Amino acid sequence: MSSDFKSVLHETRVFPPSEEFKAKARISSMEEYKRLHEESLNSPETFWGREAGELKWQQPWTQLLDWKPPFAKWFVGAKVNVAENCVDRHVEAGRGDKVAILWEGEPGDTRSITYSQLKDEVCKFANVLKAQGIKAGDRVLIYMPMVPEAAVAMLACARIGAVHSVVFGGFSSESIKDRLHDSGAIAVVTADGGYRRGKVVPLKANVDTALSGGESKVEKVIVLKRTGQDIAMQAGRDVWWHAAEAEVDANCPAEGFDSEHPLFILYTSGSTGKPKGILHTSGGYLAGTYLTSKYIFDMRDDDVYWCTADVGWITGHSYIVYGPLANGVTALMYEGAPDTPHFGRFWEIVEKYKVTILYTAPTAIRAFIKWGDEHVTKYDLSSLRLLGSVGEPINPEAWMWYHQVIGGGRCPIVDTWWQTETGAIMITPLPGVTPTKPGTATLPFFGVDAAVLDDDGKEVGPNEGGKLVIRKPWPSMLRTIYGDAERYEQTYWGTYPGIYLAGDSSRRDEDGYFWIMGRIDDVLNVSGHRLGTAEVESALVSHASVAEAAAVGRPDEIKGQAVVVFVTLKAGVEANDGLANELKKHVGNVIGAIARPDDVRFANVLPKTRSGKIIRRLLKEVAAGGQVKGDTTTLEDFGAVAALMQSQGKDE
Ligand code: PRX
Repeated sequence: MSSDFKSVLHETRVFPPSEEFKAKARISSMEEYKRLHEESLNSPETFWGREAGELKWQQPWTQLLDWKPPFAKWFVGAKVNVAENCVDRHVEAGRGDKVAILWEGEPGDTRSITYSQLKDEVCKFANVLKAQGIKAGDRVLIYMPMVPEAAVAMLACARIGAVHSVVFGGFSSESIKDRLHDSGAIAVVTADGGYRRGKVVPLKANVDTALSGGESKVEKVIVLKRTGQDIAMQAGRDVWWHAAEAEVDANCPAEGFDSEHPLFILYTSGSTGKPKGILHTSGGYLAGTYLTSKYIFDMRDDDVYWCTADVGWITGHSYIVYGPLANGVTALMYEGAPDTPHFGRFWEIVEKYKVTILYTAPTAIRAFIKWGDEHVTKYDLSSLRLLGSVGEPINPEAWMWYHQVIGGGRCPIVDTWWQTETGAIMITPLPGVTPTKPGTATLPFFGVDAAVLDDDGKEVGPNEGGKLVIRKPWPSMLRTIYGDAERYEQTYWGTYPGIYLAGDSSRRDEDGYFWIMGRIDDVLNVSGHRLGTAEVESALVSHASVAEAAAVGRPDEIKGQAVVVFVTLKAGVEANDGLANELKKHVGNVIGAIARPDDVRFANVLPKTRSGKIIRRLLKEVAAGGQVKGDTTTLEDFGAVAALMQSQGKDE
């Protein structure tokens, strides 16, 4: 089977760390990295005792790990408050006047919030939540624009032990509804609207639609005033953030919660139509995000760190909120899009705030390349000292451009591989230590026992492709799929018992570096975001004209993968451009704009195996063969292929 995963990439360029970076690095050499990595796997008590010991534990753990595969408990017996670690700890250490969050809105409004102010904000909002009847263990759905209050709401939940479930502001009311239902959330925190590409996103109106069926358990909706647009407020249910906050004080003790107390649920796509609620807990997640941020982003007291993700994704959770704030760094947050109001927006922000560490995604880098260097080079980017990449494999040429044009050839690049499920970065270079090669995430972080296996569970040889797995539990790992332990067990631990299956294919080169090749399941990666083909298909068949649908990815220069859908129509419905556009819009409405198909292709039948499985490989080839040529009225004729497969009795 390993022959299924063949890499065509032969990259030989190597970039050793600069002497300047090396001189100041926390870890002094590759030998030191190897020693610490071995210690983290072979003497985890020593390693985590020292490293996680830097955090504040209200009660120490009595056992580091309780591992009953596939269920793990970390820092057993410890009591911890995650928000206290991200906020109070720095104030208590005399760093209350340091800026925690630097914020820039899309229209250009700005804010700067110190750790002391953040503490007050978090405490006040925690008291608001309490006043609304929210208690430890209750689920709270957060649907917010990229404003500091999004982080405040998350930390306030953490402070009182409520479990947040952030839904990306670009998702539809239908997605909110599904997540409300699955999580059983009793409250929603939202805003009237948010700014995106010069337009106002109607966040509160979307929440209203999601709640209109009356099936949810939501009793309270707390609304932040951001855009000032007109919205409906339902008496008894909806309260304004500012009004509720005026009634409470800033005194909210940070109660210690069990290390395994749930911190948040974040939904992500899998290979079925139903998104999975990935559950993360307190102590292990905090330790993982703290340590990775410290070593991988080399966070220092004078850094201005900017992660360009949205808090609605795991990258935003771990590397805008929890990891950076646990390290007491100054983190920048930007509300808007990279091309609004102009193509140089990111670089203008880097110059203005003298950003030192930048963490972004390959899809953004490819867009910048396309827009042209002139939008970059007119800004002074000399403050940058470290660059990061996440979300999908970075193409070597995009890496080179990032290195040269953004990093001026002097900044190490950390290409970080991880997932919603892993909670924190798993495979990555360490800046100042690991020699990098364009296109590889290089080596496992501390505590991570990564390997590439064949179907029989044997480790493959150098440069042979196989399935990426993690052989030992790690502190920030997901604990389960919320409400579906069986799916958790099957999806991640069912292929190789006791071993975590990541769902990616990979190879390791002669230096042991991991080269991630892509997903092995029916999950697409569109602009660094996961999208299940089944979710797109369910959205399509919910349209009155559609009989059957199949979604596949095709390579796309900017997005990595574009969504192509093949659709058969109900009897009597005519295929035409108008309907194709309507279907695109429909999917966008049901899931969110990121799922909007790039091409809609109509077919007479879908090609299937005898057992009725859609032959995706064939559809992928057809999809990659080119964009739909103007005339959508010509049906793709898969009838012949289908007949051939049936007659040969072929089953893929
Ligand atoms: O396929 C891998 C890809 O993104 C998937 C995880 O997606 P998600 O849970 O949405 O989290 C994205 C941000 C952590 C992985 O299974 N992926 C993520 N980072 C990389 C990557 N593929 C290659 N290289 C990366 N650096």
